[in-house]
Amino acid sequence: MHTRPIQWSCLMMVLITLWSCGDANGPASDPNRQATLQNPSHPAAGQYAAECVSCHGSDGLGQEVLNAPALTTLDATYVARQLRHFRDGVRGAHPDDSTGAIMAATSINLDDQAIADLASYVESLANALPASTLDGDVAQGKDYHLNLCSACHGSNGLGNTALEAPALVGLNDWYLLAQYQKFQSGTRGAHPDDRWGIQMVRLAPALSDTDVLESIATYLATLPPAN
Ligand code: HEC
Ligand code: HEC
Repeated sequence: MHTRPIQWSCLMMVLITLWSCGDANGPASDPNRQATLQNPSHPAAGQYAAECVSCHGSDGLGQEVLNAPALTTLDATYVARQLRHFRDGVRGAHPDDSTGAIMAATSINLDDQAIADLASYVESLANALPASTLDGDVAQGKDYHLNLCSACHGSNGLGNTALEAPALVGLNDWYLLAQYQKFQSGTRGAHPDDRWGIQMVRLAPALSDTDVLESIATYLATLPPAN
């Protein structure tokens, strides 16, 4: 029994740390970020509030300190596929994918109906641009995007549903870079059931220069997040 106060003080320290992390990067530090849940009458609003807001935010713009990306411009088909892939060990199961493992653990108990509802909720989030963190060469980024990425992700960067290629505009620049590097190393997309990820694994060696990738991410952050 006498160890209890120590356990409690540890717990309090963890909570205070988590709380202050959220404070530094979450809604409280940025007056433009919304603290209230969007579309509260949507069937999955409650589940999103309970299971997703802590990392992705009520505005869906993510939190860099938790490696959790912005989700606002992603369409429901793409989001549902990612949640299924996380749940089924197709994404986030590679031993080097520590951030993917977080989502894999989060998705483990989601059934197909919950995934469909959550994906529809995520699609309904108001499209927005997360804050930029990179300072690449915009003109170079535009050139590379138009030549290498736009055929699938659209010249406006908003994705192409027929090709199952998601929007790149609206993703955090640091997340875009990190995911591209995962495709390069085969940490994401190499699973035999990842039909869409494999396209990126095949393409990723085309660019190995981090400066160019930063420029693409910087350019995409200048584009509007919706048509
Ligand atoms: C503990 C923090 C945490 C929680 C809670 C969480 N996520 Fe995530 N989520 C992450 C991280 C970290 C990633 C990035 C995974 C990676 O690096 O591949 C991610 C990635 C995603 C992606 C992939 C985005 C993309 O562009 O491919 C989707 C979709 C997603 N989360 C949805 C959700 C939903 C819906 C919930 C609630 C059911 C949720 N997340 C709860 C941390 C979290
Ligand atoms: C042949 C078509 C194709 C081309 C060309 C292509 N992509 Fe992709 N990309 C895809 C598909 C399909 C996905 C979805 C993968 C999945 O479902 O996991 C994707 C996913 C991504 C993701 C992950 C997004 C997320 O939300 O997690 C990033 C980042 C990305 N592509 C960046 C690029 C960049 C940068 C280029 C140009 C250098 C590029 N892609 C060129 C088809 C393509």
